[in-house]
Amino acid sequence: MILILDFGSQYTQLIARKIRELNVYCEIYPFYHIPKHIAHIRGLILSGSPFSVNDHNAPKPDLSAFLGKIPVLGICYGAQLLTHMHGGKVGASGLREYGRAKLHVLQPNNPLLNKIPEKSQVWMSHGDTIDELPEGFECIASTEDIRNAAFEIPVLKAWGIQFHPEVYHSEYGKELLKNFVVNICGCDQSWTPESFIQSSIESLRRKIGVEKVVLGLSGGVDSTVTAVLLSEAIGDQLHCIFVNNGLLRKNEFQNVLHQYRDMGLNVKGVDASERFLEALRGVTDPEQKRKIIGRLFIEVFDEEAHKIEDVSFLAQGTIYPDVIESASVAGPSSTIKSHHNVGGLPDVMKLKVVEPLRMLFKDEVRRVGAALGIPDELLGRHPFPGPGLAIRILGEVTPEKVALVQEADYIFINGLKEERLYDHVWQAGAILLDSRSVGVMGDERTYEYVVALRAVHSTDGMTADWVHLPYEFLARISNQIINRVPGVNRVVYDISSKPPATIEWE
Ligand code: XMP
Repeated sequence: MILILDFGSQYTQLIARKIRELNVYCEIYPFYHIPKHIAHIRGLILSGSPFSVNDHNAPKPDLSAFLGKIPVLGICYGAQLLTHMHGGKVGASGLREYGRAKLHVLQPNNPLLNKIPEKSQVWMSHGDTIDELPEGFECIASTEDIRNAAFEIPVLKAWGIQFHPEVYHSEYGKELLKNFVVNICGCDQSWTPESFIQSSIESLRRKIGVEKVVLGLSGGVDSTVTAVLLSEAIGDQLHCIFVNNGLLRKNEFQNVLHQYRDMGLNVKGVDASERFLEALRGVTDPEQKRKIIGRLFIEVFDEEAHKIEDVSFLAQGTIYPDVIESASVAGPSSTIKSHHNVGGLPDVMKLKVVEPLRMLFKDEVRRVGAALGIPDELLGRHPFPGPGLAIRILGEVTPEKVALVQEADYIFINGLKEERLYDHVWQAGAILLDSRSVGVMGDERTYEYVVALRAVHSTDGMTADWVHLPYEFLARISNQIINRVPGVNRVVYDISSKPPATIEWE
């Protein structure tokens, strides 16, 4: 395995994903939590950081367990740290160097630069630069502006690079990372969806034995892949619960329940729609809606789980980005999450937890799902928020409004699928505004609801751009919604990006 020490760079997760794409397993740890068991670690990567090594509070962990013992690659801050630790000079470069640069290879035979052409494009993003290398360091590549763009410390089997190989704009970045993890560290490229499935099934069987596991299915990719993987491992010892909170898309509950059963999952569908809608009556505050829905879901799930005798484990579809404790500029304390009051937790939350996907990135979850034979239709679904349509109905949620937004959403999403636009959009849906506007239908004045359509491109939901859907398509969907959804006389398209807007309206 490759260990990546995170110093708070925005690109750390990208390094991990690029290495995983090489079918080499790696894990990210914050610089202040260096793992204790390191015998299986074949190489170490030090990430970039918003810090300067010259800052009085710059992170400088003790790397003596690794340096000289296994190969080390410092990227940006990591390279500056290696330089600084050994007495070299790192200084502010005057202006921030950001963007594309041409890398000139000085040592074509260096193992880190194997198969990298003499000149290629790399991506820079740094405020400091390495002015002087310590004795024993060898400069192996430069750019027009930076002499020490890459170096080797031969006695330590360590390298440093000032650019970011993990970023798309570094042309030969993947080759460089491959040179490090495969050729230098000697990792074999055997981390594949199939090998993950096989080893997970074995370890799940060992961990669970003959005991029973309960899992809440949401229709989303993560819980579905978790269920199918567990079902492969322990069959009907897995009991799935799929709750209809009355806030799902049109026909979603029945359709997805059928799909789950067709996949051979042992799943119970629980229709708690009325309970949720009743609890939401009169509530207009978005956060309040979220709290009510979250609490009620746990209540319903807890009641259902109690009906299964002797259940010992709670399975969850947690994935790696939820688990990674990112090193933040504000320091370790700001990332530590507060704990719930254990005494007050419902019984299901006291069960032993099993999270088979906790080390996977989202794209890896999809690949594992495909290798498990889960239909593309389920794996390619857009993300959908836990509180469902409740946060797409501005203001009070009523059964009538749910039906209305379900209809509008159905027309929009079906239209995207028919036009083969669905897979090019990261997330889409219809929002029902809480104000009405004047319109005219025939000779009659109308005073009805407004529906907003939202479609965004994103990679992780943290930032998003609105999608430039074709005007003809928007015109057709607008017509269909106004003609077919009674109570709506106006459709608008949301052209805001995140930030400063958010994807959901509430
Ligand atoms: P925002 O609106 O914050 O959404 O830009 C980013 C992503 O998160 C989803 N989202 C939620 N998911 N519970 C969820 O499970 C929530 O309360 C929630 N709020 C937003 C949203 O759909 C988008 O994918």
